[in-house]
Amino acid sequence: MSETVKLTYKDKNYEFPLIEGSEDEKGIDIKTLRAETGLITYDPGYKNTGSCKSAITFLNGEEGILRYRGYSIEDLCDKASFLEVAFLLIFGDMPTAKELDLMNSEIRKDSLVDEDLKSILKSFPKSAHPMGVLSSLTSGLIAFNPTSVDIESEEDMREAIIMLMAKFPILASWTHRKVKGLPLNYANTSLSYVENIAHMMFKLPHQDYEPSPVVVNALNKLLILHADHEQNCSTSTVRIVGSSHAGLFASVSAGISALWGPLHGGANQAVIEMLEAIKADGGDTKKYMAKAKDKNDPFRLMGFGHRVYKNFDPRARIIKKAADEVLNELGVNDPVLEIAKGLEKETLNDPYFIDRKLYPNVDFYSGIIYRALGIPTEMFTVMFALGRLPGWIAQWSEMRRNNEPIGRPRQIYTGSKHRSI
Ligand code: SDX
Repeated sequence: MSETVKLTYKDKNYEFPLIEGSEDEKGIDIKTLRAETGLITYDPGYKNTGSCKSAITFLNGEEGILRYRGYSIEDLCDKASFLEVAFLLIFGDMPTAKELDLMNSEIRKDSLVDEDLKSILKSFPKSAHPMGVLSSLTSGLIAFNPTSVDIESEEDMREAIIMLMAKFPILASWTHRKVKGLPLNYANTSLSYVENIAHMMFKLPHQDYEPSPVVVNALNKLLILHADHEQNCSTSTVRIVGSSHAGLFASVSAGISALWGPLHGGANQAVIEMLEAIKADGGDTKKYMAKAKDKNDPFRLMGFGHRVYKNFDPRARIIKKAADEVLNELGVNDPVLEIAKGLEKETLNDPYFIDRKLYPNVDFYSGIIYRALGIPTEMFTVMFALGRLPGWIAQWSEMRRNNEPIGRPRQIYTGSKHRSI
């Protein structure tokens, strides 16, 4: 008999199975809790609640470990391309040369979006936040690709996946071009997946453009590091929207909106805005640390803390090192990098941050690289979404392949009892 967990309630004893994952994670299987006891659980923010079983990403927050399908992000950053990592996350193994070539050619064939999508883009004011534009364009894709909605077979699933992997970077690059007031570029299918992203974002109509290895390598690393992160807020959104059998594009559009929030992916934009404010305020990091610790002050040190990592976010370590390398290679001297390093150093010796295990997370240094690459601050979270796309796709596919039930949590009602008008 597998291990069980005993519960006593109103002098009655209950037993529930203990389920165990491949990395020794254990959970109480409470699928029958309400039917047997009449009780539900209460866990705001789902801090202690597993929503699914997943074979995609493993992270250990205490030890600062992050692996995609068993491969460490350190290895993948050093040895793989972003498209290989996308294949790994979505299909479960690293691609053979043949599989990668096939995926590449299918994506290249699909690297075009309906011209009428430009009218959705044009309808936005230049001041529109790029995440709102990207979410709308992604949803707009459905109208021009209706076959992506009803997924009845593996072939349907693959077709929708390839379509989104091909068209999403175009929409993201168009969002960037809108912010910069520049004409839109089309995909250049003679380039690699990441070179093409750089091309569509940065190629100016009156100049030749050759994606520099520094830019491509930096983007490749950043996209890999953002590719998946198990059941975070936006991925859980993609899964729960998809659990109603809404299509992949609609589910990802919802995920983009969840990622937009400053407590989630929007933090990378908030970090740079915070560092700029500290710089404008004479670089007084101690003043902002005091604000972050003051319970009466809503200010939080953006880019610090994490729901799961109670150690250094392993992605922050890699991005911090890459920030130094990229700025040196591009000959960029960004004073906010020194302010960021100063903040990190001070928090590592501050009891408030130590006691709460608040360390720099993935968003703390990423904006410094994006800025050095010439990407506007309000576009940083779009870059996060570009990286997270294969993770969202992988998680959505797993949820559908596992025929998971529609997501519908319970509640503890605290409102008025029955009353008459
Ligand atoms: C991402 O989940 C993922 O995997 C997300 C992500 C991914 O890849 O998908 O990793 C990407 O979203 C990274 C996180 C980016 N967000 C930020 O950097 C925003 C700043 N950080 C926080 O707001 C906060 O740390 C969260 C939202 C990230 C986590 O919040 P939790 O787990 O709900 O923790 P909490 O709010 O309960 O905080 C615990 C304590 C509280 O103090 P006490 O009430 O115990 O005294 O720590 C304090 C908080 O006030 N605290 C902070 C803080 N973060 C937490 N205090 C100051 N500054 C901060 N940044």
